[in-house]
Parts: sequence; structure tokens; C-alpha cells
Amino acid sequence: MTKRVSFECLATDGAARLGRIDTPRGAIRTPAFMPVGTAATVKAMRPESVAATGADILLGNTYHLMLRPTAERIARLGGLHRFMNWERPILTDSGGFQVMSLAELRKLTERGVTFKSHIDGSRHELTPERSMEIQRLLGSDIVMCFDECPALPADRTRIAESMQLSMRWAARSREAFGDRPGHALFGIQQGGLERDLRAESAEALREIGFDGYAVGGLAVGEGQAAMFGVLDYAPAMLPADKPRYLMGVGKPDDIVGAVKRGIDMMDCVLPTRSGRTAQAFTPRGAVNLKNARHQDDPRPLDEDCACPACRSYSRAYLHHLFRSGEILSAMLLTWHNLQYYQDLMAGMRAAIAEGRFAAWEAAFHARRAEGDI
Ligand code: GUN
Ligand code: ZN
Repeated sequence: MTKRVSFECLATDGAARLGRIDTPRGAIRTPAFMPVGTAATVKAMRPESVAATGADILLGNTYHLMLRPTAERIARLGGLHRFMNWERPILTDSGGFQVMSLAELRKLTERGVTFKSHIDGSRHELTPERSMEIQRLLGSDIVMCFDECPALPADRTRIAESMQLSMRWAARSREAFGDRPGHALFGIQQGGLERDLRAESAEALREIGFDGYAVGGLAVGEGQAAMFGVLDYAPAMLPADKPRYLMGVGKPDDIVGAVKRGIDMMDCVLPTRSGRTAQAFTPRGAVNLKNARHQDDPRPLDEDCACPACRSYSRAYLHHLFRSGEILSAMLLTWHNLQYYQDLMAGMRAAIAEGRFAAWEAAFHARRAEGDI
């Protein structure tokens, strides 16, 4: 009998929750931040380094992996975990969202979406059934429903029709996924910024029944205030005994605000992508190491950070590496940013466990207000 994926809420502090998701590949401490490993790699990082930052789970992408190197090839090579040498849990996004932002000549129908690859122009189709098959071939531990998400702003009719299509696709995803002990299927709530559409979507997902529930369709151009407006009510519409995942979020203050409102899981390319453009996150806010003010600075990027970039190198050296176009710049700054994000999550988990989240949040904002140096 294979163990099932389970979720336990260990403590609450206001709406914030401390919990644990147990999977056959290991536990995920929540609130969790999932580094993005789109192309079967967290860019510029070896998997053991990602684990060393404290990450329990990575995110992978159906869209990219189906195009290159293909799901069938990864399955023949023993699945995504073995292929990329990451034996802990992996969550995969379902592809619909990435098709809409990356692919060319997209055609959306009731059946699914056809598109041209952004890599070589080849034609492909994704449906709920094919997305479930690809995520099974990859060996994903947490599979996401196939959904569709309009860019905001969009008119209410478009948001309603899109949400209802996503709910029919959610039912087809559930049916195609079947019963796979040890693997979880998450539904995705849509409905834009419309409270009643969010409620209708949540009701449709609860009716179908999932192992976890994502809040989708946010961080698509609406701004933080509008996003927090939705997060003030959306998590409470989803079952309390299952994990809640906010997709594609975000900046450090977005993450703190989401956890405060009851979100358990998040993912974002920001720490890894910013690491490659010399933007570093610190408790005193974002620092751009490209800036000439760092060129003679012998101090570490962040004195309190335990990552290799901060333990062994100066700001002057990190500045020099980036200015020289050196690969080590991306490696060190990505590591630092992932360390910062994981330390942020660990800090929130400890604060929730001890019932001092409000004080922790006040200190988080106060330190950022002081600024760098
Ligand atoms: N990533 C960020 N937002 C979304 C969303 O709404 N749906 C999916 N599938 N992925 C996302
Ligand atoms: Zn560091």
C-alpha cells in the first residue's frame, strides 16, 4: 500500500497557518516557497545546493518539458526526479498558463489548446487529458489541473466564461488523473478580481474534490492591493483541511502578505531570475550589485546570511563578477536569493508556531524601511 499525500495544519496565528505536507518523497514544511526549475534545472544551481538553502520541493513545467526534451524521453530515462537528480517532491504546472504567455498561434477550444512551440515552431496540443498524461510521465508528485487564465484587466464576461471553462477542465483533469496513491492533484480557483466568480469557482472545485487547492489568476498585472483584496476572502472559500497554493507569487512582501492571509505554498521565478540580473534580496530590501556604489565595498552583501555569496565574498567582488559577465555571478546571487527566500519562510514558520506573526511582520517591514547600508 503506497502512502497517500496528506496535509496537517500544526498551528494557526490569525489566518496564517503552519503545516506539513507528507509525501512518499519527503515532507514539505508550510508555508513553503518552491524554487522554479522550469527546464529540469533551477538555473545556475546544483540540486544539492537548492536543498542546502532549505527548499523541500521544486516546481517544474509541463509546457517546457513536453517541448524539450519531451515527457516520453524523460519517462524512458526514469522520470524527472532521476533525470535532474532531485529526489525530493516536485510540483508541476499543467501548461495552459505557459501556453498563453509563451507560445505562438494559440487556438483555444472546449477540447483544449493548440499552439506553435516558441522553441522551434512545431505544432502541439494540450488538453486536460494530455496534461495529466505528461505530468504522470514526468513522475510529478503534485499535479496541477489544466486551466486557463485571462490576463488582467479583462471584462467580467470574459473572466466568467474562462473560469467556467477551467472548471469543466478541472472535472476532466480529475477524471483523467484517476486514483494514484502517493501523488496529489490540485484544483485551481479562477475568477479574476470578482468575489462571486471566485466563490462559484471554489464551489465547483470542492464539488469535484482535490488534494489541494490553488489560487490562480493573480499576479497577472492587477497590482498588490488588488491581489491582497482577493486574498482577503479567497483562501477561506477553499477547504481548511487541504493545502492552499498561490501560483506565481511573488516579491518578498507579496509572500508575507499571502501567508498572513492563509496561503501555504508559493512559487516564483523572481529569486532565480533576479540572481542573473544582479538584483539581490536582503532583509533591508532589494540591492542591485550592478550599481557602482558597490565597487570598493569590502563588506558582505548581507552580514546575517549564511549562503556562500555572503560568507566568502565582498560586495565589490560580486559587483566585479557581474560587470565582467562571469557565470559565477549568477551562481552566487541565485544561491543568495534562494537562501533569502527560504530564510524568510523559516522565519514565518517559527513566528506562526510561537504565535508572534504580527510582531514578526512588523519587524520585517521596519527593517526594509531602514533601507540598505
Ligand atoms: N501560474 C501563475 N498563475 C497561474 C494560473 O492561474 N494557472 C496556472 N496553471 N499556472 C499559473
Ligand atoms: Zn547570502
